[in-house]
Amino acid sequence: MSEIQPLIAGNWKMNGLKESASEVLAIKDKLTDESFDPQVDVLICPPATLVNSLVELLADSTIKIGGQDCHNEISGAHTGDISAEMLADSGATAVIVGHSERRKNHGERDNDVYLKTLAGHRAGLTAIICIGETEGERRSNQTLDVVKRQLHGSMPSSALAINTVIAYEPVWAIGTGLTPTPEDIAEVHDMIRQELSTIVDTGFAARTPILYGGSVNADNARELMAIDNVNGALVGGASLKAESFLGILSAYLAE
Ligand code: PGA
Repeated sequence: MSEIQPLIAGNWKMNGLKESASEVLAIKDKLTDESFDPQVDVLICPPATLVNSLVELLADSTIKIGGQDCHNEISGAHTGDISAEMLADSGATAVIVGHSERRKNHGERDNDVYLKTLAGHRAGLTAIICIGETEGERRSNQTLDVVKRQLHGSMPSSALAINTVIAYEPVWAIGTGLTPTPEDIAEVHDMIRQELSTIVDTGFAARTPILYGGSVNADNARELMAIDNVNGALVGGASLKAESFLGILSAYLAE
């Protein structure tokens, strides 16, 4: 039995208006029902516009709120950007960095992700570092090399198990309904666990949560979350509705 407290993190991407508070309230209500007690930490990463209002809405709940990206500087002339300190000031406790959509749409490279991770830590946030291969890289058998390179390029050696989460997200599995086989996921997660101990203290390496992300839903969560070295999930589409998100949390109910 792993001693790592699992985490289910919802990534709303560019979805969500004020009215989405009703989905969050439904999740909160269900989690306060004693008969529904999944043994898992819950984080929701809405668009930045909703961070503060959802933090206030969840003040008396165990659900945490995170950002989806941050700039690496504290402040300055960066129109449209948000610093990790601003997210922390709004009540966020975590920030996703290096999501493949940021890497693809905004040209972010491992070193940018590294700097954003440091920024998150500087602001007292948990950094959720996303890494994962493209379809072409998987087809040409480069998965382990690519993921290893991204891990080493994105993760600072100053990272601690309490402020860093790794999310393995194969790009081809995001939003497609496709998932790797459990064996393929286990192979990558095992490699990540081993590599972590070459970057950070072995104690931290053993305790750093490694999430799987890419088409996780209520139907496949139990199987995916049971894989060795999978300590939770980063969930996109299925995090937008309370019903499907709660279905994923159900994977962590005692049998
Ligand atoms: P998905 O997205 O669950 O919709 O595949 C996952 C992610 O991009 O984090």
